[in-house]
Amino acid sequence: MSQQFNARVDAHVAQKVSHASSWLDIGTGDGHRVMRILAASSARPTRLLACDSSTQMTHIAEATCTGFAVQNWNPAETEPPAAFNNIALISLLGNVFGHVLTPSDRLIAMRRIAATLSPGGQLVLDFNNRRNMRQYGWTNVARRALRYVAGGDDGMFVARKNVDGTEISTAVYLGTVKEYRNLLSAAGLDVTETLFLDYRTGADAGSLTGQALVVATKPQGATTA
Ligand SMILES: C[S@@+](CC[C@H](N)C(=O)[O-])C[C@H]1O[C@@H](n2cnc3c(N)ncnc32)[C@H](O)[C@@H]1O
Repeated sequence: MSQQFNARVDAHVAQKVSHASSWLDIGTGDGHRVMRILAASSARPTRLLACDSSTQMTHIAEATCTGFAVQNWNPAETEPPAAFNNIALISLLGNVFGHVLTPSDRLIAMRRIAATLSPGGQLVLDFNNRRNMRQYGWTNVARRALRYVAGGDDGMFVARKNVDGTEISTAVYLGTVKEYRNLLSAAGLDVTETLFLDYRTGADAGSLTGQALVVATKPQGATTA
C-alpha cells in the first residue's frame, strides 16, 4: 500500500465526511488516518465515532482521536455499542474486512455494521482485490480464478514477513467485487460507487489492475439499530 493510494482513498472519504452529520470509522488502528481525513474535510460532522477490535489500538486511538468517541468493538463478535446508531457515514479503511477471515463472520459483521447506518446513510470501504493482476501477478490471479470457477477459492492469502530473524505469517482475505457486492447486498445495502485504484500510484485503474473502493448506501425506509 502506498501513500498515493491512501491519499486517493482519503480524498474520497473526506469529501463524504464534509457532508455527513455523523461519522464512524471502524478498524481505526492508531487513529492518525481519521484525524488527517477530518483535517482535509471542509465541514465537521457533529458526531464523531471510531472503534477497533484490538484493545491496544483502541487505547492508542483514544489518545490520538481528539473529538472522537472511541470504543473497542469487533462487529464479528458482538452487537454494536449503544452509541453506534443512526450513523450517516461509516468507513472501513485499509482492507479492514481482509482481517475478518470467514464468510459467516463477514456476513454477521456487515449486518451489524449496516444496522447502525441511518436510512440514506453511506458506507465506504477499500479492499485488496484478488483479481488485481498488477499487484499479485497474472499467473496467481488466473490460477485463483480457475479455482474459484471450480468452487474452491476462499480468497485466503498468507502474508509472510521476517521480523528480526523470525518469520511471521498473517492470514488475510483478498476479496472480489462480486463477493463484496453480495456481502453488502445481504446486509441490505446498495452498492452505489465502485472505483479501482492502482495500489502503488493511486491512479485510476481497472478491475484487473487496481485495488477497490466501494461505496454502499442504505435504502431510505430501511430499519436501523
Ligand atoms: C490495516 S489496519 C488499518 C487501520 C486504519 N483503518 C488505517 O487505514 O490506517 C486494520 C485495522 O483493523 C482492525 N481490525 C481487524 N479486524 C477487525 C474487526 N473485526 N473489527 C474491527 N477492527 C478490526 C485491526 O486491529 C487494525 O487496527
